[in-house]
Amino acid sequence: MMLLEIKNISKQFKRNKKAFYALNQVNLKVDAGDFVCILGSSGSGKSTLLNIATGLLKPTEGTVTFEGKELIGKSLCGLDQLRGSKIGYVMQGQNLLANFNILDNMLMPGYFSGKQNLKQRSIKLLEGFGLIELIKMYPGQLSGGELKRAAIVRSIVSEPALIFADEPTGNLDPDNAVSIMRLFQRLSQEGIAVIVSTHDYEFLKYSKIAYKLTGGKLEEYSN
Ligand SMILES: Nc1ncnc2c1ncn2[C@@H]1O[C@H](COP(=O)(O)OP(=O)(O)OP(=O)(O)O)[C@@H](O)[C@H]1O
Ligand SMILES: [Mg+2]
Repeated sequence: MMLLEIKNISKQFKRNKKAFYALNQVNLKVDAGDFVCILGSSGSGKSTLLNIATGLLKPTEGTVTFEGKELIGKSLCGLDQLRGSKIGYVMQGQNLLANFNILDNMLMPGYFSGKQNLKQRSIKLLEGFGLIELIKMYPGQLSGGELKRAAIVRSIVSEPALIFADEPTGNLDPDNAVSIMRLFQRLSQEGIAVIVSTHDYEFLKYSKIAYKLTGGKLEEYSN
Protein backbone atom coordinates (compact mmCIF):
# COMPACT_ATOMS: atom_id res chain seq x y z
CA MET A 1 0.00 0.00 0.00
CA MET A 2 1.15 3.50 -0.73
CA LEU A 3 2.17 5.25 2.47
CA LEU A 4 2.42 8.87 1.38
CA GLU A 5 1.23 10.69 -1.68
CA ILE A 6 2.08 14.30 -2.42
CA LYS A 7 -0.05 15.54 -5.29
CA ASN A 8 0.31 18.77 -7.22
CA ILE A 9 1.70 20.71 -4.29
CA SER A 10 2.45 24.37 -4.88
CA LYS A 11 3.45 26.96 -2.31
CA GLN A 12 3.41 30.63 -2.96
CA PHE A 13 5.28 33.08 -0.74
CA LYS A 14 5.59 36.83 -0.95
CA ARG A 15 8.88 38.65 -0.76
CA ASN A 16 9.04 42.44 -1.00
CA LYS A 17 5.39 42.36 -2.06
CA LYS A 18 6.26 40.10 -5.00
CA ALA A 19 4.76 36.64 -5.06
CA PHE A 20 6.83 33.64 -6.08
CA TYR A 21 6.47 29.89 -5.97
CA ALA A 22 8.78 28.09 -3.52
CA LEU A 23 7.18 24.84 -4.73
CA ASN A 24 5.67 24.39 -8.15
CA GLN A 25 3.38 21.40 -8.86
CA VAL A 26 5.34 18.85 -6.86
CA ASN A 27 4.35 15.18 -7.00
CA LEU A 28 5.86 12.36 -4.93
CA LYS A 29 4.79 8.86 -3.97
CA VAL A 30 6.38 6.94 -1.13
CA ASP A 31 5.91 3.29 -0.18
CA ALA A 32 6.85 1.46 2.99
CA GLY A 33 10.60 0.77 3.02
CA ASP A 34 11.45 3.44 0.45
CA PHE A 35 14.56 5.53 1.06
CA VAL A 36 14.04 8.78 -0.80
CA CYS A 37 16.68 11.44 -1.14
CA ILE A 38 15.66 14.96 -2.10
CA LEU A 39 18.62 16.90 -3.39
CA GLY A 40 18.60 20.63 -3.81
CA SER A 41 20.69 23.70 -3.22
CA SER A 42 19.91 26.31 -0.59
CA GLY A 43 16.56 27.98 -1.22
CA SER A 44 15.33 25.30 -3.65
CA GLY A 45 12.29 24.51 -1.46
CA LYS A 46 13.42 21.44 0.54
CA SER A 47 12.27 22.60 3.99
CA THR A 48 9.06 24.01 2.55
CA LEU A 49 8.27 20.62 1.02
CA LEU A 50 9.00 18.71 4.25
CA ASN A 51 6.98 21.17 6.33
CA ILE A 52 4.01 20.69 4.02
CA ALA A 53 4.41 16.90 3.90
CA THR A 54 4.31 16.73 7.70
CA GLY A 55 1.29 19.04 7.95
CA LEU A 56 3.14 21.93 9.60
CA LEU A 57 2.64 24.26 6.66
CA LYS A 58 -0.40 24.63 4.44
CA PRO A 59 0.22 24.52 0.69
CA THR A 60 -1.31 27.03 -1.70
CA GLU A 61 -2.49 24.13 -3.82
CA GLY A 62 -2.43 20.35 -3.78
CA THR A 63 -2.96 17.47 -1.39
CA VAL A 64 -0.95 15.26 0.96
CA THR A 65 -2.32 11.83 1.77
CA PHE A 66 -0.86 9.61 4.49
CA GLU A 67 -2.14 6.01 4.75
CA GLY A 68 -5.01 6.98 2.48
CA LYS A 69 -6.13 9.92 4.61
CA GLU A 70 -5.87 13.59 3.76
CA LEU A 71 -3.37 15.36 6.00
CA ILE A 72 -4.06 18.98 5.15
CA GLY A 73 -6.84 20.41 7.23
CA LYS A 74 -6.35 17.83 9.97
CA SER A 75 -6.62 19.32 13.47
CA LEU A 76 -3.43 20.36 15.23
CA CYS A 77 -4.09 17.74 17.88
CA GLY A 78 -4.49 15.02 15.26
CA LEU A 79 -1.25 16.12 13.60
CA ASP A 80 0.64 16.06 16.92
CA GLN A 81 -0.60 12.56 17.51
CA LEU A 82 0.46 11.50 14.03
CA ARG A 83 3.91 13.03 14.44
CA GLY A 84 4.25 11.43 17.88
CA SER A 85 3.41 7.97 16.62
CA LYS A 86 3.53 7.32 12.89
CA ILE A 87 5.62 10.15 11.48
CA GLY A 88 9.03 11.22 12.73
CA TYR A 89 10.38 14.60 11.67
CA VAL A 90 13.93 15.82 12.19
CA MET A 91 13.62 19.49 11.37
CA GLN A 92 16.43 21.60 10.04
CA GLY A 93 16.66 23.90 13.05
CA GLN A 94 16.33 23.36 16.77
CA ASN A 95 14.27 20.26 17.50
CA LEU A 96 14.52 19.70 21.23
CA LEU A 97 12.73 21.53 24.04
CA ALA A 98 15.20 23.68 25.94
CA ASN A 99 13.70 23.19 29.41
CA PHE A 100 13.75 19.40 29.36
CA ASN A 101 16.83 17.22 29.65
CA ILE A 102 17.86 14.94 26.77
CA LEU A 103 16.18 11.81 28.11
CA ASP A 104 12.90 13.64 28.80
CA ASN A 105 13.06 15.07 25.29
CA MET A 106 13.32 11.50 23.97
CA LEU A 107 10.20 10.48 25.89
CA MET A 108 8.17 13.38 24.47
CA PRO A 109 6.70 11.50 21.45
CA GLY A 110 5.29 8.99 23.95
CA TYR A 111 3.05 11.66 25.48
CA PHE A 112 1.42 12.29 22.12
CA SER A 113 1.24 8.75 20.84
CA GLY A 114 0.30 7.06 24.12
CA LYS A 115 3.18 4.63 23.59
CA GLN A 116 4.78 3.64 26.85
CA ASN A 117 8.09 2.07 27.75
CA LEU A 118 10.02 4.32 25.44
CA LYS A 119 12.67 4.75 28.12
CA GLN A 120 14.57 1.51 27.55
CA ARG A 121 14.49 1.98 23.80
CA SER A 122 15.60 5.60 24.12
CA ILE A 123 18.53 4.64 26.32
CA LYS A 124 19.56 1.88 23.94
CA LEU A 125 19.44 4.24 20.95
CA LEU A 126 21.28 7.01 22.80
CA GLU A 127 24.00 4.50 23.65
CA GLY A 128 24.28 3.53 20.01
CA PHE A 129 24.75 7.17 19.06
CA GLY A 130 27.39 7.85 21.71
CA LEU A 131 25.06 10.14 23.64
CA ILE A 132 24.51 8.17 26.83
CA GLU A 133 26.69 10.46 28.95
CA LEU A 134 24.46 13.38 27.96
CA ILE A 135 21.03 12.15 29.04
CA LYS A 136 20.80 14.46 32.06
CA MET A 137 22.10 17.48 30.16
CA TYR A 138 19.93 20.18 28.60
CA PRO A 139 19.90 20.98 24.85
CA GLY A 140 21.78 24.26 25.46
CA GLN A 141 24.72 22.24 26.81
CA LEU A 142 25.15 20.09 23.67
CA SER A 143 27.09 20.73 20.48
CA GLY A 144 25.30 21.16 17.15
CA GLY A 145 26.17 17.63 16.02
CA GLU A 146 25.13 16.11 19.35
CA LEU A 147 21.80 17.93 19.13
CA LYS A 148 21.30 16.66 15.60
CA ARG A 149 21.97 13.07 16.65
CA ALA A 150 19.64 13.44 19.66
CA ALA A 151 16.92 14.82 17.37
CA ILE A 152 17.34 11.79 15.09
CA VAL A 153 17.03 9.44 18.06
CA ARG A 154 13.87 11.23 19.12
CA SER A 155 12.35 10.88 15.67
CA ILE A 156 12.74 7.08 15.78
CA VAL A 157 12.00 6.18 19.43
CA SER A 158 8.30 5.63 18.84
CA GLU A 159 8.99 3.42 15.80
CA PRO A 160 7.21 5.52 13.16
CA ALA A 161 6.22 4.20 9.73
CA LEU A 162 7.73 7.24 8.04
CA ILE A 163 10.66 9.47 8.90
CA PHE A 164 11.42 12.87 7.41
CA ALA A 165 14.85 14.38 8.01
CA ASP A 166 15.81 17.84 6.77
CA GLU A 167 19.56 17.92 6.12
CA PRO A 168 20.24 15.40 8.90
CA THR A 169 23.98 15.42 8.28
CA GLY A 170 24.17 19.20 7.96
CA ASN A 171 26.63 19.88 10.77
CA LEU A 172 28.17 16.45 11.25
CA ASP A 173 31.71 15.26 10.57
CA PRO A 174 32.08 12.61 7.80
CA ASP A 175 32.17 9.63 10.23
CA ASN A 176 29.01 10.67 12.01
CA ALA A 177 27.37 11.55 8.71
CA VAL A 178 28.03 8.06 7.34
CA SER A 179 26.65 6.43 10.48
CA ILE A 180 23.44 8.46 10.06
CA MET A 181 23.19 7.43 6.39
CA ARG A 182 23.70 3.77 7.36
CA LEU A 183 21.10 4.08 10.10
CA PHE A 184 18.49 5.43 7.67
CA GLN A 185 19.41 2.69 5.20
CA ARG A 186 18.91 0.05 7.90
CA LEU A 187 15.57 1.55 8.95
CA SER A 188 14.35 1.46 5.35
CA GLN A 189 15.44 -2.17 5.07
CA GLU A 190 13.29 -2.84 8.13
CA GLY A 191 10.30 -1.41 6.24
CA ILE A 192 10.28 2.17 7.47
CA ALA A 193 9.98 4.84 4.78
CA VAL A 194 12.71 7.47 4.97
CA ILE A 195 12.68 10.83 3.21
CA VAL A 196 15.82 12.88 3.53
CA SER A 197 16.56 16.33 2.17
CA THR A 198 20.20 17.13 1.61
CA HIS A 199 22.79 18.78 -0.54
CA ASP A 200 25.22 15.99 0.32
CA TYR A 201 25.55 13.76 -2.75
CA GLU A 202 27.09 11.00 -0.55
CA PHE A 203 23.50 10.13 0.35
CA LEU A 204 23.03 8.71 -3.16
CA LYS A 205 25.14 5.71 -2.14
CA TYR A 206 22.59 4.80 0.52
CA SER A 207 19.18 5.92 -0.74
CA LYS A 208 17.04 3.92 -3.16
CA ILE A 209 15.63 6.76 -5.19
CA ALA A 210 16.63 10.37 -5.60
CA TYR A 211 14.88 13.53 -6.71
CA LYS A 212 16.18 16.98 -7.27
CA LEU A 213 14.43 20.23 -6.40
CA THR A 214 15.33 23.15 -8.60
CA GLY A 215 13.51 26.40 -8.04
CA GLY A 216 10.52 24.58 -6.57
CA LYS A 217 10.28 21.91 -9.31
CA LEU A 218 10.87 18.28 -8.31
CA GLU A 219 12.33 15.88 -10.83
CA GLU A 220 13.70 12.37 -10.57
CA TYR A 221 17.47 12.43 -10.38
CA SER A 222 19.78 9.83 -11.83
CA ASN A 223 23.53 10.06 -11.86
N1 LIG B 1 7.70 32.09 5.25
C1 LIG B 1 8.32 32.47 4.14
N2 LIG B 1 8.03 33.64 3.55
C2 LIG B 1 8.62 34.03 2.39
N3 LIG B 1 9.55 33.30 1.75
C3 LIG B 1 9.88 32.10 2.30
C4 LIG B 1 9.31 31.62 3.51
N4 LIG B 1 9.85 30.41 3.81
C5 LIG B 1 10.73 30.16 2.83
N5 LIG B 1 10.77 31.15 1.92
C6 LIG B 1 11.57 31.20 0.68
O1 LIG B 1 11.23 30.06 -0.11
C7 LIG B 1 12.38 29.50 -0.74
C8 LIG B 1 12.56 28.05 -0.32
O2 LIG B 1 12.90 28.01 1.07
P1 LIG B 1 13.28 26.64 1.81
O3 LIG B 1 13.48 26.97 3.24
O4 LIG B 1 12.27 25.64 1.47
O5 LIG B 1 14.66 26.28 1.09
P2 LIG B 1 15.67 25.07 1.38
O6 LIG B 1 15.82 24.29 0.12
O7 LIG B 1 15.22 24.34 2.59
O8 LIG B 1 17.04 25.84 1.67
P3 LIG B 1 18.25 25.48 2.69
O9 LIG B 1 19.08 24.40 2.03
O10 LIG B 1 19.00 26.77 2.78
O11 LIG B 1 17.66 25.06 3.98
C9 LIG B 1 13.54 30.41 -0.34
O12 LIG B 1 13.74 31.33 -1.37
C10 LIG B 1 13.05 31.10 0.93
O13 LIG B 1 13.62 32.38 1.08
MG1 LIG C 1 16.01 24.05 4.43
